[in-house]
Amino acid sequence: MRRVVVLNPKGGSGKTTLAVNTAGYFAYSGFQTVLMDCDPQGSSTRWLRKRKPNQPPIHGIATFEKDSRTTRSWQLRIPDGTERIVVDTPAAIPAQDLPGYLQDADKIIVPVLPSDIDLHACSRCIADLLLVGKIKREDNRIGVVANRVRKNTLVYQSLMRFLDQLRIPIVATIRDSQNYVRSAELGVSVHEMKSYIVRDDLAQWETLIAWIGGERPSSAGEPALTAMVGRSL
Ligand SMILES: Nc1ncnc2c1ncn2[C@@H]1O[C@H](COP(=O)(O)OP(=O)(O)OP(=O)(O)O)[C@@H](O)[C@H]1O
Ligand SMILES: [Mg+2]
Repeated sequence: MRRVVVLNPKGGSGKTTLAVNTAGYFAYSGFQTVLMDCDPQGSSTRWLRKRKPNQPPIHGIATFEKDSRTTRSWQLRIPDGTERIVVDTPAAIPAQDLPGYLQDADKIIVPVLPSDIDLHACSRCIADLLLVGKIKREDNRIGVVANRVRKNTLVYQSLMRFLDQLRIPIVATIRDSQNYVRSAELGVSVHEMKSYIVRDDLAQWETLIAWIGGERPSSAGEPALTAMVGRSL
């Protein structure tokens, strides 16, 4: 079982966008996938509820929801056979709460927007991950995703310089694209959309998928992928 946590206390940096698209990718690739929504706003949970029965299943766990009909431990249980867990976290997490979110995390994705305010918030977040979260740089568990990027802009270049100084790998650069807005509206991941619409986006996901160890050995993944081809939106 592999756990990917998407985290950045800065609001609106793209945590939910990356979490749902990562979970969607895993499910599309045939992994038994759980999407854990730790944000009381419930954006990931809303995305999940929009999914249609013919889409690859993703088991949702909304950690903030209280359901009086079941016990808390039943509500939070990870189903047997789960292979991938993606955790969407809320904004404004106090540093002292980080260790709880980071427990058992194989990979921690930190999305950052190319703006001065977001760069400063990101450096704070990375410092907290290293010092409070006790994540070691050399473990290669933290990866930054530059989100909503327009390449060849000054702010993009300062983002890259800045991340270079932090010595944290930039595991993907994701462009600003209406496809992510549609993905949120429709409950699909970009991997489940028509390939000619998302070709540029899928190319940008390749490095991120490689970093999180997302590929399924080809023989095991084939049936799920083949089944999906006819269903692509
Ligand atoms: N690459 C992108 N291209 C276009 N729109 C994007 C992209 N990434 C995120 N967005 C949009 O930006 C907004 C904020 O993104 P998102 O909700 O993923 O951020 P968040 O970090 O989860 O926010 P919060 O801290 O409130 O939970 C959303 O409307 C989302 O659709
Ligand atoms: Mg969110």
